[in-house]
Amino acid sequence: MRTKLPIAILISRRGSNMEALLNACDAPDYPAKLVAVLSNNPDAAGLDIARAKGIPAHAIDHRPFGQDREGHERAMDEKLRQAGARIICLAGYMRVLTPFFVEAWSERMLNIHPSLLPKYPGLHTHQRALDAGDTVHGATVHLVTPGVDEGPVIAQARINIRPDDTAETLSRRLLPKEHALYQDALRQFITNQASGL
Ligand code: GRF
Repeated sequence: MRTKLPIAILISRRGSNMEALLNACDAPDYPAKLVAVLSNNPDAAGLDIARAKGIPAHAIDHRPFGQDREGHERAMDEKLRQAGARIICLAGYMRVLTPFFVEAWSERMLNIHPSLLPKYPGLHTHQRALDAGDTVHGATVHLVTPGVDEGPVIAQARINIRPDDTAETLSRRLLPKEHALYQDALRQFITNQASGL
């Protein structure tokens, strides 16, 4: 089997997509290994999930940095490089990144977003899909570029919207699809880009 590519995951809260990627990385034939999990929020539940599985998981709290967003990201960047990460996966990372970080990880940073981009970048995607009367909803894994939720799409997953759906039921039904999507999209990305990463 060829060498696994070291990846790191950035989270802010629950970390269920992180856990899905962590589980995928456990498989011998998956092309990535998880070397670090970072959170800007020391209370993120995902940190404990990662630690329980023996993954180095660090909180780099953004609050002491105040307005110095780049300073916070430079601290994260240093930690990620120390860990040997080659690809970053954002998984519920709730801060908009500065040009410094986006540039530093250009073509090497993925994000998962709970809508069928380019529809509904930003927040409250499930409610916005309902308000628009959509019959189909979904999630997108995309490359991260300077515009929020704007980068090239790698893969998408779809679900049908039912007449009685709420933002809550949509979110609940979409989440397992997100997990499988992110696992597949990362595998596809690494496999397709293997020579350049
Ligand atoms: C997911 O819906 C993801 O698409 C969005 O934030 C949520 C994170 O959930 N970016 P979790 O922390 O992975 O459970």
